[in-house]
Amino acid sequence: MESLRSFFRISILVLSTFLIANADENMADCHYPAIYNFGDSNSDTGGISAAFYPAGSPSGETYFHRPAGRASDGRLIIDFIAEHLGLPYLSAYLDSIGTNFSHGANFATGGATIMRPNESWFETGVSPFNLEIQVEHYTQFKDRTAYFYNQGKELSERERIPKPEDFSKALFTLDIGQNDVAAGIRKLSFELQQAAIPKIVSQFIAQVRNLYQRGARTIWIHNTGPIGCLPVTISKVLDPMLGYLDENGCVKNQNNVAIGLNKKLKDEIIKLRIELSEATIIYVDIYSVKYELISNTKNQGFEDPFKICCGYHGIGYDVWCGNKGTVNGSEVYAGSCANPPRVISWDGVHYSEGANHWIANRIVNGSFSDPPISIKRACHK
Ligand SMILES: *[C@@H]1O[C@H](CO)[C@@H](O)[C@H](O)[C@H]1NC(C)=O
Ligand SMILES: *[C@@H]1O[C@H](CO)[C@@H](O)[C@H](O)[C@H]1NC(C)=O
Ligand SMILES: *[C@@H]1O[C@H](CO)[C@@H](O)[C@H](O)[C@H]1NC(C)=O
Ligand SMILES: *[C@@H]1O[C@H](CO)[C@@H](O)[C@H](O)[C@H]1NC(C)=O
Repeated sequence: MESLRSFFRISILVLSTFLIANADENMADCHYPAIYNFGDSNSDTGGISAAFYPAGSPSGETYFHRPAGRASDGRLIIDFIAEHLGLPYLSAYLDSIGTNFSHGANFATGGATIMRPNESWFETGVSPFNLEIQVEHYTQFKDRTAYFYNQGKELSERERIPKPEDFSKALFTLDIGQNDVAAGIRKLSFELQQAAIPKIVSQFIAQVRNLYQRGARTIWIHNTGPIGCLPVTISKVLDPMLGYLDENGCVKNQNNVAIGLNKKLKDEIIKLRIELSEATIIYVDIYSVKYELISNTKNQGFEDPFKICCGYHGIGYDVWCGNKGTVNGSEVYAGSCANPPRVISWDGVHYSEGANHWIANRIVNGSFSDPPISIKRACHK
């Protein structure tokens, strides 16, 4: 009886896996007219650079051959997603020159948090353009686009903005939360960080709901990465033997905060799917992809996972990429390493173009997604 029951259970599991896989294969590609992205420096394609001080050399050197408003030597995951979907790279909403929003806009800004910067434990230094403000920017963008489009006898104006009817067919992507975790680590005890998670997630969900009310129907959400594996973090560990580190050399407690946030986020997204019944909401496990890369670096053709290509960081010193400073009594300039494509970390916090490409290749086909649907088919209910 028991074995019969488990036989059925397994059959149903196999059958449903087959149906999901098969459904994905039989569905037509979505042909999104645009991408609207929200997030922090992991997906900022020029916002914070336009608003404050531009990212300087040597950022951008591998691909753009000039600083391109990105915290990397080249393209970001969102750039590879745009390429994969046959769309141009996203212009930053805050950028005022050389922009073209006909296929979407990027509201992400470096340093951005889910929480408002004025909430108790946050400090100055994080971006003023938190998620709520980014959604507000999107709302203004959408409303004013409709106005100009309908007014616009000027064809040249229409060439730079999306069609009003395209918003609900667009892909909405979110990648934010790392700075909330980082701020908590700087300011709060482990217990208080855990206690803050429901508040952070509830603010995140409130903004996804706002996007839905403003037309979003295909929503692709990245969870937050293994912050305890960032080389800058590792460079501050006094004694690796004290038990702070896991078997791959990452700071356990810090990763546990990210894992806690992700778990809560996933649970709330499952509830949200029922509420926002006309949307598809895909949860992408960026944490696991990045962790897999870090724990399996050599096999993937990269060097030491904690090597920093551009910048000097250690106990008592930080010389950030592109800056001059003093390390162990000597003047140094933090330029880039000999072989950026072979390092995972560009500047100790942000991933290199090579790592971003590796990650993007693994997520677009849906193998880290819940439900396991490829990005090209994510619009199907
Ligand atoms: C932060 O700012 C928002 C929006 O201006 C406001 O509603 C909220 O009460 C503020 N929070 C705190 C803790 O001051
Ligand atoms: C904006 O980009 C679209 C698509 O790439 C292109 O057709 C259009 O001409 C561009 N507009 C301007 C003003 O360059
Ligand atoms: C600075 O000195 C420390 C301690 O000797 C050493 O571990 C570190 O590698 C040095 N940093 C650089 C950039 O040379
Ligand atoms: C998705 O792509 C990655 C990288 O190319 C590959 O390793 C993986 O097997 C693919 N997964 C599926 C389900 O197709």
